Amino acid sequence: MDLILFGPPGAGKGTQAKRLVAAHDIPQISTGDLMRAERKSGSELGQRFDEFMSQGKLVPDAMVIELMEKRLTREDAKRGAIFDGFPRTVAQAEALDALLAKLGRQIDKVVVIDVAREEIVERITGRRLCEETGREYHIRYNPPPPDVKVTQRGDDTEETAHKRYDTFEQNTLPVLPHYEAKGLVAKVDGVGALDEVTTRIEAVLPR
Ligand code: AP5
Repeated sequence: MDLILFGPPGAGKGTQAKRLVAAHDIPQISTGDLMRAERKSGSELGQRFDEFMSQGKLVPDAMVIELMEKRLTREDAKRGAIFDGFPRTVAQAEALDALLAKLGRQIDKVVVIDVAREEIVERITGRRLCEETGREYHIRYNPPPPDVKVTQRGDDTEETAHKRYDTFEQNTLPVLPHYEAKGLVAKVDGVGALDEVTTRIEAVLPR
């Protein structure tokens, strides 16, 4: 199965993708995570990603598509993938269709995780990460234990959260009609307990 988790920044795409990985035995492919890993490596490419990410702007399509092309050819993505944070533009959606077609595949479902802007800003500014374990927390909904050292993503400020939401509305929402025309889109309410949201997503996936 090839599944797109679609939604604004902070909607819970990454959280839900990780929950679906085990149940469906396909990897989560997050372009944001791939870019952060590149940035952490200190490479020149990582620095170029950072110029856009730190301002809440989209990384140019050609760079993102190249990154995805490399990732999709890895062995673990042979039977499908959960795309998290990709595609974010119509050009990326068209490129993904072409990449999958080359592999004899196509997108099976696009699940929109629906969350309003005010909730998004609260989720993003409260998000914390334990770099040692990769576990994510939220200072209010899921606070880290006192002995766990956590950090905050550089782009998780209130100002950048609003910019990222604006970018989502301007550049990413227009991707939806591309998939709606193919009858692939299902919307789920992204507010509620994590298990509830997972159940809503599972309910709309192809059997
Ligand atoms: P990326 O890393 O993709 O970030 P994003 O889309 O902004 O999404 P987030 O990771 O912030 O949120 P999420 O939906 O995964 O939510 P999460 O599960 O973490 O992109 C970062 C940047 O990289 C972009 O701005 C851009 O510059 C660049 N980039 C990446 N991909 C690109 C592309 N394709 N093209 C161009 N540029 C690209 O949850 C958020 C918080 O909410 C957490 O604290 C979590 O614990 C909490 N939470 C989750 N679910 C719930 C719930 N049900 N109730 C309460 N809290 C919840």
